[in-house]
Amino acid sequence: MDTLLSAYQRLLTEVARDLHAACGALEFASTLGVQVPALTTYDPASPPNGNLTWFELPVYENDQAIAHLRLGFDPGMPLPDPEEQRLAHALVELAVLVNRARTQQASAHQASRRILAVTEEELQRVILDIHDGPVQKLFAASSQLELAAGLVDQVPEELRAPLEAQLARVAGLLQLSLNEIKLTVGSMRPPEFRRRPLVSVLQGLVIQHQALTGQRVQLRVQGEIPPVSLPVKIAVYRILQEGLSNAYRHAKVDSLDVRLSREDDWVILDIADEGAGFDPPLLEGPAGTELEEHIGLRGMRDRAELVGGHFRLTSIKGQGTHIQVRVPGDV
Ligand SMILES: Nc1ncnc2c1ncn2[C@@H]1O[C@H](COP(=O)(O)OP(=O)(O)O)[C@@H](O)[C@H]1O
Ligand SMILES: [Mg+2]
Repeated sequence: MDTLLSAYQRLLTEVARDLHAACGALEFASTLGVQVPALTTYDPASPPNGNLTWFELPVYENDQAIAHLRLGFDPGMPLPDPEEQRLAHALVELAVLVNRARTQQASAHQASRRILAVTEEELQRVILDIHDGPVQKLFAASSQLELAAGLVDQVPEELRAPLEAQLARVAGLLQLSLNEIKLTVGSMRPPEFRRRPLVSVLQGLVIQHQALTGQRVQLRVQGEIPPVSLPVKIAVYRILQEGLSNAYRHAKVDSLDVRLSREDDWVILDIADEGAGFDPPLLEGPAGTELEEHIGLRGMRDRAELVGGHFRLTSIKGQGTHIQVRVPGDV
């Protein structure tokens, strides 16, 4: 039982005892679809028999009963007086409010995690659309251009040279566009997250990064890495992707180290380079120095925190940068 539920349980026991009830139950209506189990001072498998007089105190919010406190009294025991009822009511109301805040938070958190996965699916669709649409058309345009180039010797001699130069420029631009799309789309293409385990998708990313940039990445996997949920897998993948991209674009190093390890129930990702380094922006607090354009760093931190993890960045100018991300394993 979590801390909050055991606090409710203590509250219920206290209220029942103070009012000299033989037993009690606190039932929550489902709020935001999250069901909190009813709490009882008796074994729910063998509820008390029918000799008790039940006293019921509903808790309302906007005319809707959102919880019920039920107290069972032995025959002859006095039922709670109005003062006692008010006190019990206030206590139960407080418990319900706390519970509501908690379920709302839990549901927002679940939604954020779902959005991570949905975003990936959308990204996959966008990439497919680019591949099937503009890329195919650019290829088609390239081959049309080749055909046109083959016809050049049929135009009057004085036009050939400028026409050839013009065609070559267009062909060069087409090729450049194709290369740029290949680089962006290629590096953003999500792997099959659902089917492949974390280590495998990270290995794939590292191989791809090395091929695209020529930078060497030493990837070490230490110990048995526990399975992780889909949102965690996506978060770690995208964080490493941004870390590698930063190491390439900003650190200016030939090689860097990436380590995946385990500590208790946590999976830990370390990305370290001995490159240019920088003064890391303070991401939070009144002295925060985060810049609007630091989307990459912010995205890394947000992704880690969204899945219940932690993000730490240390960097020293001229010495290098170290990023550590801890995310929960599915254990
Ligand atoms: N590994 C790194 N080495 C050196 N500088 C870095 C590194 N990572 C990030 N930076 C610095 O932090 C800034 C913000 O990074 P980021 O938020 O990823 O944005 P972007 O990569 O688009 O510039 C970078 O512009 C760069 O100055
Ligand atoms: Mg970046």
